[in-house]
Amino acid sequence: MQEQRQPIQRLDYTPPPFLIDRVDLTFELEETNTRVLSRLVLKRNPAHPNATAPLVLDGEELALESIKLDGKQLAQDDYELGDDTLTIAQLPDECILEIATRINPLTNTTLSGLYVSNGNFFTQCEAEGFRRITWYLDRPDVMAKFTTTIIADKTRYPVLLGNGNRVDQGVLDRNRHWVKWVDPFKKPSYLFALVAGKLVVLADRYTTGSGKNVNVEIWVEPGDVEKCHHALASAKAAMAWDEERFGLEYDLDTYMIVAVSDFNMGAMENKGLNIFNTKYVLARPETATDVDFDGIESVVAHEYFHNWTGNRVTCRDWFQLSLKEGLTVFRDQEFSSDIGSRAVQRIGNVRTLREYQFPEDAGPQAHPVRPDSYLEINNFYTATVYEKGSEVVRMIYTLVGHDGFRKGTDLYFKRHDGQAVTCDDFVAAMADANDIDLTQFKRWYSQSGTPRVTVEGVYDQDAKTFTLTVEQHCPATPGQSEKQPYLIPLALGLLDRSGAELPLVLAGESDTGVTSRVLQLKQAKERFVFTGIHSHPVPSLLRDFSAPVKLDYPYADEELVFLIAHDSDPFARWEAANTYLTRLLLQRYQQEAGHAAAPAQLVAAFEKLLTQDRIDPALVALMLQLPSEQFLFEALNEVDPTRLHQVRQALKQSLAKELRAPLIAVYQKLHSTEPYQYNAEQAGRRSLKNVALDYLAELDEPRITELLTNQYRHADNMTDRLAALAAFNQREGGDQYLADFASMWQDDALVMDKWFGLQALSDRPGALARVQQLMSHPAFAMTNPNKVRSLITTFCSRNMAHFHAVDGYGYAFAADRVLELDKINPQIAARLAACFNRWTRVEPSRRAMMRAELERVARQPGLSPDTFEIVSKALQAGK
Ligand code: TRP
Ligand code: ZN
Repeated sequence: MQEQRQPIQRLDYTPPPFLIDRVDLTFELEETNTRVLSRLVLKRNPAHPNATAPLVLDGEELALESIKLDGKQLAQDDYELGDDTLTIAQLPDECILEIATRINPLTNTTLSGLYVSNGNFFTQCEAEGFRRITWYLDRPDVMAKFTTTIIADKTRYPVLLGNGNRVDQGVLDRNRHWVKWVDPFKKPSYLFALVAGKLVVLADRYTTGSGKNVNVEIWVEPGDVEKCHHALASAKAAMAWDEERFGLEYDLDTYMIVAVSDFNMGAMENKGLNIFNTKYVLARPETATDVDFDGIESVVAHEYFHNWTGNRVTCRDWFQLSLKEGLTVFRDQEFSSDIGSRAVQRIGNVRTLREYQFPEDAGPQAHPVRPDSYLEINNFYTATVYEKGSEVVRMIYTLVGHDGFRKGTDLYFKRHDGQAVTCDDFVAAMADANDIDLTQFKRWYSQSGTPRVTVEGVYDQDAKTFTLTVEQHCPATPGQSEKQPYLIPLALGLLDRSGAELPLVLAGESDTGVTSRVLQLKQAKERFVFTGIHSHPVPSLLRDFSAPVKLDYPYADEELVFLIAHDSDPFARWEAANTYLTRLLLQRYQQEAGHAAAPAQLVAAFEKLLTQDRIDPALVALMLQLPSEQFLFEALNEVDPTRLHQVRQALKQSLAKELRAPLIAVYQKLHSTEPYQYNAEQAGRRSLKNVALDYLAELDEPRITELLTNQYRHADNMTDRLAALAAFNQREGGDQYLADFASMWQDDALVMDKWFGLQALSDRPGALARVQQLMSHPAFAMTNPNKVRSLITTFCSRNMAHFHAVDGYGYAFAADRVLELDKINPQIAARLAACFNRWTRVEPSRRAMMRAELERVARQPGLSPDTFEIVSKALQAGK
């Protein structure tokens, strides 16, 4: 391994030596040679311990042209140019620095800083991209007022966008024009943005509760305007919701969203000028699935909500990332729940948490919601910071209640508007507003790992009591061997044998009639005695997934089947099905009994679900789906991924056979000719129909092939067409449909991403060779993260059978791609490298091969810190 930078430690935080009041930026845009002029109004920070400290500005890949201090040109020995720093000693307490810099946006393939995509200019500055644009104190606790003047060729770049309000514009010589933007709110550099190019707009107005008129604008490439209506409607819905639910209004004249196809993540909340991956903007029923529509709604809302939780109140340092991300994810989840189906939303969020965050917490990159150290901050935009962070906020919400939470956020904004703060400040506002003590609760921010909660229930016939004994334990994680007990809200109910909910009265209390309540666990082991219970109840535990834990209760299979039929809490009802199926699949895997038929009890329970119409179809669809291989993997050691895949596949086939008739009946009942609309009700029916189709596709019958063919040919929407194509993708003879689809959609990049993604998930022999071939398809590009994710990341992290093929070719392929990408885009390379994270958990022969590939990557000279951090931590797990 090679020399690498030192990790940054949370406890090393010191305030910046200087503050910046104002920044005036001027960009002379040229693809290969952009000139950036920056005028900084600086003053010493009284909070810094050393009153003569030098000014150390950050900068990467910049060519310095000149520096002026208070109008006077600095000579070369007035400053020191380091690798990524520019140091100026002995500055006066107040001064003005003017720095001219040259950068090359065209060759910037990292998609961080200023870059060119499809001939247009875009920026991405979070977390540390601004230093790739100009020299700056590139840290979030330096908040300044920005103005931006953009100068560019009028023909090639007719549209010039910046943060804040457009205040002036004009024309210059050589066919150039300029626009000046002023952002009245002070902000950290990571929220800076600029866009220039040939773009068109879909615009609307929104009037805030206090009567302010806001322009809502979505900027896209010509030809895409018709695909922006859903994003626009989502933005307006988010604006109304934030007023209603949190009392938060928009604060500028214009709210802009710009879509770009080359983008590292989902979207970015730059002040007044959000920049989005096209995937989260563009949708028409023919091109986008229900899942895509849903994703757009929540990402648009997420970025909009950042205007308060992230921008107006920002993070003091990057260790506090979850301050804005956990809270904003919580807010977007609540928004989606309020405008759609709360139950479906909750189950979906829990599935994501378990599939992405639980493995993270159990693996080599485990870190607390507020991490203690990092090598590369980009590696910490994780499921832990986002999804677990949201669960932590949700637990506070559960503890203080709906109104208490609103009191807490009101106080938070009152105290901290315009400031860069910490997670402690957020928790303090919640605690103070509700007059409670959250000291123990804060362990959720500092301890990594997923706690396990073990519950036992004892019924005492004579005393008419039901006693729950609850133990909690959090396993050791890298750097944290011992854990303290958490404060865990445990929501529960008790059902009698008829399915009725029993009043929950703890010993010493009087009956209030409540049948669902939240216990607060605080100790490693404690006991709760429920009184007045007249028969042995079935507990319904962790209702609504009240805490991000793994819960064990020794349910009999019959009790799970009972809860599937009766639990009034939709999450708990789904969870009963999930627990039953997980248990069954793990048993079959362990006993090598993969090919036994589905148990009669399960077939009967599923048949009941398929033939009733009391329960929301969307929920039934979720209950019928088998737990994913990634989820099952977590519960095993020395895993043989191929066998795991086969066991799951065999159960699916057996269920399809046993349930053929009710599946066909449900399919036919839900197959509708009603024109497509994206709404929770239609989407729910489509999801059940397509789950039925997915099972039926396991049956090799002409009748089913016909059904698939019809759905593929006649669908008026992408949800149905793609569901049929996904089935063909796994079948002999499916290639003609894949070819047909490609010829139809070859010019639509987002649709082609789906096509790449399907093939990356293929079960059929030769899947890896196919993926390799597809890398030379004209629609594929290694420089485009969406393409890389669809084809390569999907194969390496979700095609368990082929990625883990015994010949090891899947591993070699992944390592080769990590190395190739590392030179192009380290952030994307590092994310792909995480596909090796579970290497210590597979059986020994695969483990050896995975380790060898990890070592090969780690040895590569010049490896980025991004990838180095991931692979070195992964290798560390084997020590
Ligand atoms: N702050 C963004 C969000 O959560 C995510 C983000 C962080 C991002 N770094 C990025 C997006 C880099 C794109 C590129 O909404
Ligand atoms: Zn965010």
